Amino acid sequence: MYAITGATGNIGSKVADILLTRGEKVRVIGRDAARLQQFVRKGAVAAVGDLQDSTFLTEAFTGVDAVFTMIPPNYAAVDFRAYQNEIGTSIAMALTSARVRFVVNLSSQGADLPAGTGPIVGLRDQEQRLNALQGVHVVHLRCTYFMENLLMNIPLINQQGFAGSAVRGDQKFAMIATKDIAARVAEHLVKRDFLGKEVRDLLGQRDLSIEEAIAVFGRRIGRPDLKYVQIPYDEAAKGMVAMGISPDVSRLFVEMGKALNEGVFAAARPRTAENTTPTSIEQFADIFAQAYFSSHVNKAA
Ligand SMILES: NC(=O)c1ccc[n+]([C@@H]2O[C@H](COP(=O)([O-])OP(=O)(O)OC[C@H]3O[C@@H](n4cnc5c(N)ncnc54)[C@H](OP(=O)(O)O)[C@@H]3O)[C@@H](O)[C@H]2O)c1
Repeated sequence: MYAITGATGNIGSKVADILLTRGEKVRVIGRDAARLQQFVRKGAVAAVGDLQDSTFLTEAFTGVDAVFTMIPPNYAAVDFRAYQNEIGTSIAMALTSARVRFVVNLSSQGADLPAGTGPIVGLRDQEQRLNALQGVHVVHLRCTYFMENLLMNIPLINQQGFAGSAVRGDQKFAMIATKDIAARVAEHLVKRDFLGKEVRDLLGQRDLSIEEAIAVFGRRIGRPDLKYVQIPYDEAAKGMVAMGISPDVSRLFVEMGKALNEGVFAAARPRTAENTTPTSIEQFADIFAQAYFSSHVNKAA
């Protein structure tokens, strides 16, 4: 049996599906029973509750062979780092109380850096928190920028006719599809092929710039002239707040964007066959196109 946190999210949902398809026993964790039903129908057991509730989590983690842990985003958080620490502590306490032996933990590129990386500092704290646990084998997957982040351009394309964010358009960096992360998570859960505390980088199929990614998407959606525009940091922060993201989270996202623009993530980790994953931006363009076209159907409805 495997316990999956964030089971209705980008990565957790795909991990649950992979394991269920393989006939494994899965306990899916989330706050909403209705959203977990899709997995229950396929044979999973639902654990409905909040990651901040360590007693609930202890029960959800008890009797499993391995756990997939992650700290979900909370775009409304007034103090995002405090929120991350609260969830992280609750997870760590529950792992200990439930005597879990193997943990696959979702981390991020930049978790090796002490500051200047926005929300990633919270994932660094969580790596250290889990590294302090005795008798638990943990692998931290330091994933690069999710290709799914690029879906956030769709409202801007619909409203303004261009894509944009605070990230430099011509800066090449690693991008990964979350289905590739989920495949690695599932493999580590089942094989439990890590000892003590380990770190693995996951860098996607290749490095590329956002301009290149948007050009691929533009061709795929029949807008070959689609442009990407870098938005100044203060305007980007204001735009995020206007979208309902808290000022603190917006500030941290801008800090992360600056770190990406300055190339600080790339320094420590050369690309290898092991940290390269299969899905290309050209393949991900199908997902982008599906989301783009359904945003039009939804608007028309
Ligand atoms: N975006 C990137 O480029 C990037 C790169 C590297 C690492 N990361 C890290 O990846 C993580 C996000 O992964 P993701 O995209 O798979 O997440 P996601 O899609 O946002 O899913 C998170 C899930 O967690 C559940 N959740 C939220 N708050 C909860 C709570 N208090 N208690 C219980 N469940 C809760 C939600 O499900 P319910 O609403 O159903 O409860 C949600 O579906 C973050 O830690 C982020 O820092 C992101």
